[in-house]
Amino acid sequence: MMKSVFFTITFVLFLSLPTLSLSQTCNKDDEKVLFKIKKAFGNPYHLASWQKTDDCCQWYCVECDANSGRIIALTIFSGNISGQIPVEVGDLPYLQTLVLRKLTNLTGEIPSAIAKLTHLTSLRLSWTNLSGPVPSFLSKLTNLDFLDLSFNDLTGSIPPELATLTKLNDLHLDRNKLTGPIPESFGKFTGNVPNLYLSHNQLTGSVPKSLGYLNFTTIDFSRNKLTGDFSMFFGTHKTIQYADFSRNKFAFNLSEVVFPASLTWLDFNHNKIYGSLPATLTELNFQNLNVSYNRMCGQIPQGGNLQTFDNMSYFHNRCLCGSPLPACT
Ligand SMILES: *[C@@H]1O[C@H](CO)[C@@H](O)[C@H](O)[C@H]1NC(C)=O
Ligand SMILES: *[C@@H]1O[C@H](CO)[C@@H](O)[C@H](O)[C@H]1NC(C)=O
Ligand SMILES: *[C@@H]1O[C@H](CO)[C@@H](O)[C@H](O)[C@H]1NC(C)=O
Ligand SMILES: *[C@@H]1O[C@H](CO)[C@@H](O)[C@H](O)[C@H]1NC(C)=O
Ligand SMILES: *[C@@H]1O[C@H](CO)[C@@H](O)[C@H](O)[C@H]1NC(C)=O
Ligand SMILES: *[C@@H]1O[C@H](CO)[C@@H](O)[C@H](O)[C@H]1NC(C)=O
Ligand SMILES: *[C@@H]1O[C@H](CO)[C@@H](O)[C@H](O)[C@H]1NC(C)=O
Repeated sequence: MMKSVFFTITFVLFLSLPTLSLSQTCNKDDEKVLFKIKKAFGNPYHLASWQKTDDCCQWYCVECDANSGRIIALTIFSGNISGQIPVEVGDLPYLQTLVLRKLTNLTGEIPSAIAKLTHLTSLRLSWTNLSGPVPSFLSKLTNLDFLDLSFNDLTGSIPPELATLTKLNDLHLDRNKLTGPIPESFGKFTGNVPNLYLSHNQLTGSVPKSLGYLNFTTIDFSRNKLTGDFSMFFGTHKTIQYADFSRNKFAFNLSEVVFPASLTWLDFNHNKIYGSLPATLTELNFQNLNVSYNRMCGQIPQGGNLQTFDNMSYFHNRCLCGSPLPACT
């Protein structure tokens, strides 16, 4: 009898232990900061669950570390939030993930307080109405592996300092109003070589030759005003897979470019590229190829999967010919 009661008590205690350790109460300093953030946003409905009566680890839009009770993620997505990014965000010292996304009434500049968040691995301020520059102080966030500032109204040029982020895997600056050149320093990433998404801006100048020193995987420079040559991304020993240079002002002779076997996506429609399509293109396994609206001539190489694309992948060139375009004369 005693034995079974003892056993039952032990069993119940054992069952409740994991729950106890998971419901670690939220750090009080972090809770105070979250209340300041809520207030700065004007106590929006989206943050209605942020109440004193509940442990802040249980609130909507936040995540705590199970052991320390420190806030490690703040993710505000698609809410009716207005105003600027509160500087108090910088006072959540253990934050690893900060996401403010699809908040079209979020305005103002990216505050320098964010530079204090040195544990950040992921920073996403996207589909908001942020303006001002891409701040160079973001290079202080040395643990960043994902940086997404896409779909905003950011202006000015790309800060060269971003190339010091050795853990960066993805850089999304697309869909802004950025001007000026692609920094020379982007050929000198010393750790990871990030995927570069810079499309839908107003970038000018030629792509620095230095970018040819690295093995990029994904490059999307489409819809800018870039000039010159992009052949530095290619060559027998490169490992690039995805390359979109469409709708720019690139102008160079493509005839001698060697495309590496890794390449599966190549789009450079709407440029001023001339010369002919290299015969070695037939050796690649393209998912997408689009060379339309350029100034190329000569026969489309026959073979591989080059004829699986319709004539719209090739049309509007100076004198390209052969299947899927009309035969050469
Ligand atoms: C957003 O909030 C404002 C002010 O609180 C309100 O007037 C507006 O109707 C809300 N919009 C949506 C889409 O809920
Ligand atoms: C943005 O703010 C305006 C003006 O307060 C409001 O009418 C609108 O509903 C808000 N939109 C969103 C998506 O919050
Ligand atoms: C930014 O705000 C303007 C009005 O000030 C609005 O027309 C536009 O849709 C907003 N941008 C985004 C991406 O929501
Ligand atoms: C790119 O990767 C290939 C294959 O791993 C390697 O042979 C080549 O040296 C690398 N090139 C650069 C510039 O790092
Ligand atoms: C492009 O380069 C090829 C090979 O070097 C050359 O034969 C051709 O004339 C050049 N085309 C133009 C338009 O300059
Ligand atoms: C290639 O690009 C042109 C111009 O933007 C477009 O009209 C065409 O549909 C594209 N082709 C394919 C196969 O996507
Ligand atoms: C492209 O193909 C379509 C359908 O096969 C054909 O009607 C059209 O004339 C072709 N256009 C060119 C420029 O070859």
